[in-house]
Amino acid sequence: MSDENTTLENAPLEAADAPVKKLFIKTYGCQMNVYDSERMAEAMGGSGYESVDSPEAADMILLNTCHIREKAAEKIYSELGRYKDLKVQNPDLKIGVAGCVAQAEGEEIIRRQPMVDIVVGPQSYHRLPALTAKAIAGEKSVETDFPEEDKFDHMPARPKARRAPVAFLTVQEGCDKFCAFCVVPYTRGAEVSRPVDRILDEARDLVSRGVREITLLGQNVNGYHGLKDGKVWGLAALIRALAKIDDLKRIRFTTSHPNDMDDDLIAAHGDCDKLMPYLHLPVQSGSDPILKAMNRKHTAAQYLALIARIRAVRPDLHLSGDFIVGFPGETDQDFEDTMEIVRAAGFGTAYSFKYSPRPGTPAAEKGDKMVEDSVAHARLHRLQALITEQQVATQEAMVGRELKVLFEKAGRLEGQMIGKSEYLHPVFVTGSVEIGDIRTVRITGTERNSLAGELVD
Ligand code: 5AD
Ligand code: SF4
Repeated sequence: MSDENTTLENAPLEAADAPVKKLFIKTYGCQMNVYDSERMAEAMGGSGYESVDSPEAADMILLNTCHIREKAAEKIYSELGRYKDLKVQNPDLKIGVAGCVAQAEGEEIIRRQPMVDIVVGPQSYHRLPALTAKAIAGEKSVETDFPEEDKFDHMPARPKARRAPVAFLTVQEGCDKFCAFCVVPYTRGAEVSRPVDRILDEARDLVSRGVREITLLGQNVNGYHGLKDGKVWGLAALIRALAKIDDLKRIRFTTSHPNDMDDDLIAAHGDCDKLMPYLHLPVQSGSDPILKAMNRKHTAAQYLALIARIRAVRPDLHLSGDFIVGFPGETDQDFEDTMEIVRAAGFGTAYSFKYSPRPGTPAAEKGDKMVEDSVAHARLHRLQALITEQQVATQEAMVGRELKVLFEKAGRLEGQMIGKSEYLHPVFVTGSVEIGDIRTVRITGTERNSLAGELVD
């Protein structure tokens, strides 16, 4: 380096004629990790790394991890174990662990797996190129602070390549709700919202590159409160501003807390045509004592009343949710109440999980109240059967209807194209459609998790 002021912190990673390096990113967990992985790949692109599909081909492997349940976290260590041979074959291979396991376990990861070079928490991804430079110089890093700055401000501008018609856009990070079972407030920190103009700029840029549908992401996305000209905007105002971008045809958001569904956001489901009639609104349990123990701060009846208000303005709303069974102290009656709310709210889809104690959360202190594993397992089985039954019924009710489908890619069969309906069901058709088109499709049949149809226009 000729510039004597250049330090590892600001050194560009590649000389102009250096060979391109290969980066393999494996993403676990939620859509926010998918978005972050994309941004990390872009940031590393600026340092001469291009993405590859297999760890064998890589000069750097990055695991973007999830800590939400124990199984998800433990997977990381078994995955790292698989890379041991690769590191023996290629001592220059660098391995990084990003995401919520990195945030939660920090140095412990390098203690358990000394071949790891970089541990980087979700708020520090803009530092990845600098940490990589250090790793190449033989220095390991653990970066898990919650810096003051917004990481996205410090990430490189997004490249201009044409994109798939659907994209995620993170607008908010962190969570202040402190549900008793959940690690997110600890791994992702306090709620921070990105400023309105920055989101609008990023959305316009995505649309100019072919995006037609944006899903706004946040751990508690409907708690969004971003600044615009000195004023605080909620999620509904942001959605309405995004809806003014002509070629943006569809807007979705996830994940929300019932207590942050304010009047304006409820109204937007009725008056904003571009906001799709699909809402992922986890309730977690249908039992009031369990909701209280979970620190959800609402009752089952309040949740049902909220859904009724949203359906009053958008009757065809497709509702999705998350459930936890076997929370400490859950009785048979509590579980029956959960089954009941699934029926009463008319969930068309839902994700259900067996409770997993997470270190540092209040619920993890309630080991004496743990539900026996076989009981929790049986409850999960019954709940999933009910959810599947409702999902099948919802899909069957679509047969004969005409839906608007945004086409995303070609299918595996000759001439087959795949898109998503307004209600987020994958829809398969055979015929001539362009990726990015929104076309009317008559539904002719249903599969387990998708619909088949024929083009109408
Ligand atoms: N155990 C099981 N499921 C959990 N979730 C969050 N924390 C836990 C836990 N400790 C589930 C919740 C949440 C979803 C993303 O993961 O249902 O909505
Ligand atoms: Fe976790 Fe969601 Fe509760 Fe926040 S609202 S603590 S992210 S379950």
